[in-house]
Amino acid sequence: MQKPMIRPRRNRQTSSIRTLMRETLITPHDLIYPLFVHNHSEKEAIGSMPGLYRHSLSSLIEEVKKAYSLGIQGIALFPAIDDQLKDPLARESKNPDGLYPRAIREVKNAVPEMTIFSDVAMDPYSSDGHDGIVRNGEIINDETLEILAQMAVTQAEAGADYVSPSDMMDGRVRAIRNALDDSGFEKTGILAYSAKYASAFYGPFRDALDSAPKAGDKKTYQMDPANRIEAVREVLLDIEEGADLVMIKPALSYLDVIREIKEISLVPVAAYNVSGEYSLIKAGAKMGWLDENAAMKEMLTSIKRAGSDLILTYFAIDYAKGFQS
Ligand code: PBG
Repeated sequence: MQKPMIRPRRNRQTSSIRTLMRETLITPHDLIYPLFVHNHSEKEAIGSMPGLYRHSLSSLIEEVKKAYSLGIQGIALFPAIDDQLKDPLARESKNPDGLYPRAIREVKNAVPEMTIFSDVAMDPYSSDGHDGIVRNGEIINDETLEILAQMAVTQAEAGADYVSPSDMMDGRVRAIRNALDDSGFEKTGILAYSAKYASAFYGPFRDALDSAPKAGDKKTYQMDPANRIEAVREVLLDIEEGADLVMIKPALSYLDVIREIKEISLVPVAAYNVSGEYSLIKAGAKMGWLDENAAMKEMLTSIKRAGSDLILTYFAIDYAKGFQS
């Protein structure tokens, strides 16, 4: 019998060789840790996201300190707003003394080195649970831009390093950039959720913030999961409008889109490993059906390998704890 001439297995023989041959390495420096804050004195476990909490201001600061000590350089913060403060115009979002600006200020004071990515969208504050103004069942684009721009300035004032529009309204990046510059926040960056899909994988997040749409769905603004070329268009537009970073969201079902965007983008590319992707692994592990740690690493590796420079992931702490350089 003829022997194989070429043997790829040679490069897989030992753990040491495999380590030398490894093409993709994720370090804690690649990760951004999403966190939730609420207006209560105790933290509260999120049922659909085991291991995660709606934090109190003090437990939030402890968690940020812990993340920083493990090498994580960025957090993405989301507010759970009390129901009685929600209204159709998301007015609470521009209250400088509201929960969210306070949380940003306190985190910045306590851990100034940590880079804060704040969230710009109406849904946490909207009594309709939508990312834009709702009128007769329609999402009104241009009037929403004004609210988003004011929200972004409020967050920049509080100390956000990057504001992150996650709303998918047309023209929001330019509206936000102009408003920031007009208010003297030229140094505040924009992380644009450029290709954000209308995904079933946001379920646990909406549970965490109680932010699910009261009527209808988000398909007139978030993208159709079937589309790839449209993601390129959205990314190019956001870069033209002034985005400093672009994002694809979710990550796992959109690895091809991440690769495509990485090839055309001249700004760094982030991907959001969303709540449903986290909870799937947690649930599978709890049932004893898969190895949580191995599945987490494989998932994060696939996102980095696809071309993502930065990964927003709820596994940030778990990954960083197990990381050995
Ligand atoms: C909304 C927003 C969503 C997420 C981040 N910002 C959900 C949505 O669009 O309904 C989802 C994040 C996750 O699922 O982890 N502005």
